[in-house]
Amino acid sequence: MQPHPPLYITFHYCLPSFHLPMASMKPPSKSHLSHLFLGFSILCFLCFNAVSAQTPIFACDIASNPALAGFGFCNTSLDDDSRVKDLVQRLTLEEKVGFLVNTAGAVSRLGIPSYQWWSEALHGVSNNGPGTKFTSLVPGATSFPQVLLTAASCNTSLFQAIGKVVSTEARAMHNVGLAGLTFWSPNINIFRDPRWGRGQETPGEDPHLASQYAIMYVRGLQDAGNSDKLKVAACCKHYTAYDLDNWNGFKRYTFNAQVTQQDMEDTFQPPFKSCVTDGNVASVMCSYNQVNGKPTCADPDLLAGVVRGSWKLKGYIVSDCDSVDVLYKDQHYTKTPEDAAAITVSAGLDLDCGSFLGQHTVAAVKAGKLAENKVDNAISNNFAVLMRLGFFDGDPKQLPFGKLGPKDVCTPENQELARDAARQGIVLLKNNKGTLPLSTETIKSLAIIGPNANASFTMIGNYEGIPCKYTTPLQGLSAVISSSVYQSGCQNVACSSNSLQLDSAKKAAAGADATILIVGEDQSIEREELDRVSLLLPGEQTTLITEVAKVAKGPVILVIMSGGGYDISFAKSNDQIPSILWVGYPGEAGGAAIADIVFGYHNPSGKLPMTWYPQSYADKVPMTDMRMRPDPATGYPGRTYRFYTGETIYKFGDGLSYTTFNHHLVQAPKLVYLPLEDGHACYSQRCKSVDLAGSRCEKLAFDIHVRVENSGEMAGAHTVFLFTTPPAVHNSPNMHLLGFEKVSLRPKAMGNVVFRVDVCKDLSVSDEDGNRKVPLGSHLLHVGDLKHSLSIRV
Ligand SMILES: *[C@@H]1O[C@H](CO)[C@@H](O)[C@H](O)[C@H]1NC(C)=O
Ligand SMILES: *[C@@H]1O[C@H](CO)[C@@H](O)[C@H](O)[C@H]1NC(C)=O
Ligand SMILES: *[C@@H]1O[C@H](CO)[C@@H](O)[C@H](O)[C@H]1NC(C)=O
Repeated sequence: MQPHPPLYITFHYCLPSFHLPMASMKPPSKSHLSHLFLGFSILCFLCFNAVSAQTPIFACDIASNPALAGFGFCNTSLDDDSRVKDLVQRLTLEEKVGFLVNTAGAVSRLGIPSYQWWSEALHGVSNNGPGTKFTSLVPGATSFPQVLLTAASCNTSLFQAIGKVVSTEARAMHNVGLAGLTFWSPNINIFRDPRWGRGQETPGEDPHLASQYAIMYVRGLQDAGNSDKLKVAACCKHYTAYDLDNWNGFKRYTFNAQVTQQDMEDTFQPPFKSCVTDGNVASVMCSYNQVNGKPTCADPDLLAGVVRGSWKLKGYIVSDCDSVDVLYKDQHYTKTPEDAAAITVSAGLDLDCGSFLGQHTVAAVKAGKLAENKVDNAISNNFAVLMRLGFFDGDPKQLPFGKLGPKDVCTPENQELARDAARQGIVLLKNNKGTLPLSTETIKSLAIIGPNANASFTMIGNYEGIPCKYTTPLQGLSAVISSSVYQSGCQNVACSSNSLQLDSAKKAAAGADATILIVGEDQSIEREELDRVSLLLPGEQTTLITEVAKVAKGPVILVIMSGGGYDISFAKSNDQIPSILWVGYPGEAGGAAIADIVFGYHNPSGKLPMTWYPQSYADKVPMTDMRMRPDPATGYPGRTYRFYTGETIYKFGDGLSYTTFNHHLVQAPKLVYLPLEDGHACYSQRCKSVDLAGSRCEKLAFDIHVRVENSGEMAGAHTVFLFTTPPAVHNSPNMHLLGFEKVSLRPKAMGNVVFRVDVCKDLSVSDEDGNRKVPLGSHLLHVGDLKHSLSIRV
């Protein structure tokens, strides 16, 4: 989505907070505006003269308009399907089309107010979409770490807990007219290339971790304690194979992602599938890009076929903002705008973020290009979600969650969770000689240096809101050691050579008991519509770090605040830099969380959710090459820990602790037999893999028991990863994650982790055509340094 500032036209005469957002990419023309003014003058005239014709504040306001009681769609004793049917049959074609766009039209004669579908809540309630705003009534909301850092916590309960707080704050804001009910989050695209400007928004490069994140965050947002109802509606985006914004002249609006069926099946689709089938998400958003020559929002196989057909989405499919316009105007995918309207709605698109379908769908129907019942289906999907949200149940204050209000936003508990999330995600990458944690017994003064040392807005990443407050790194660290000297070192993260202030930075480091260098990037380097070119630290940051480290009196702690990873081999191998932390974009309480880690009030447990590649990788691999698998013939190295075997700076799953953990394999089968149907071809011939469809898969599961021991001196949490290396058939991954579980252990304590392994789901691989097969032969299971061979035979 385009994060451009929405334009609000506020009319204080009519209703206290009536506003009209413009979601279009292009600013409205003057004539458009004067047209609106005329419209509103008439509306305001009606406000004073005919109350019944006024646009209502909420739908089905029976108390002020008793006639509505007779409408089936307002009758809460009916089931949702009947209510939706009742509503749809009352609408004219023009009115129906008004419900195909994010700024949905009001139908005053039916007591239906305008509804703004576009709100965002990637890591806290955000005002990035026009449906949500902050005012003196609710000046800010809890701003959690950017998603990539939260994913690094590998704590599924945390993913859900954050979603729950966000939905509570969202409902609280909705109840006072400041937010919608439909939030277009989370972003669960695979972080395929380290340069992607939006990698920060995602749960990383692994399909299983991304799936778990999607499921749990969506549950946290949506769970209303009743399976039919929704607290707020989440949206998994951007479907699919979208992970390039603007690189080397290639833009997302016209990029054709060429993806093999195999990569589709085992990399790009799994998070979306899990989000729909296990997360029961209420919405999926299709992306701007094409996949194999078709715009995703116009592809009936991807939408009606897969999302609604195979995965059985119960909800609506929305376009990325102005996607339909983009496929017509920028991609020239259809000849006429009516064809673009017809092809997208027929493909299964229900809602257009933008105005295109509002402008062209009536004509498409009248020209016979689109059957009206397709429009009915689309708006029925939209209405069904609004029904589950209680939108047609009358006064929101009388509904479940109706008691939530401004007092429930930015509570101390919510803000503490933001701090805890950052602590749980922060990754300790290097810690020579146990330099960290610093002890307040010996460290009496600090030099706090670097362009992100006093970061505030930078900490909340993109798709941000207005946070409750900030604790900058400088504030967090100085709260522990009051004798602190701060030097930014350079003007900003770009760190140009003429803004470098080496002398003052070196002087500070030479005089302090410890030096904390806080560097990295911000949205000027990586963001939506801006991919990186280089994997090196920006500008002169490397010089700053190296020169300061040379003269520092005490230990030097390098803190990298960023989305994507870096080639920091210079620091990794430099003995003058004993410790390195990656803190992502740590959210509003980031500075407090960094201090908690540095001084050992919290034992770090985060694990990198993405590979950190050397610069040579970016020099060699075009971002536009979507292939996950290496191609030895051309030297193409492949992507992510699952396929790439070249040099790395840090690996997926890396992350140290202040204590040590040991693993023992307690129980795991050595042999699993697959039952085959009589006459299966693999009885008579040797097969490399078997296709096990349906019921034969059901009971094929076993448990793996792992005992974990905290063998060190400090309490801490540890994530146990279970990986498997399948037999070398079908170009399978080198290894892939089957499961992970985080346990918290006191010193010397032991814990047990049990992984339930479903043979068909977890041990199958995608063949070259994208079909799931179980490879026969030896599957090598990995837990930490332990390896266990499991043989699968027929
Ligand atoms: C609402 O629907 C129920 C169930 O069909 C019906 O008995 C009731 O009369 C309806 N209420 C109104 C006000 O029409
Ligand atoms: C996971 O997060 C939850 C919620 O913040 C927390 O209570 C729990 O201790 C965390 N689990 C581990 C193992 O750290
Ligand atoms: C840190 O940044 C804040 C703005 O976010 C500013 O008010 C404050 O003066 C800065 N602190 C120092 C020591 O420069």
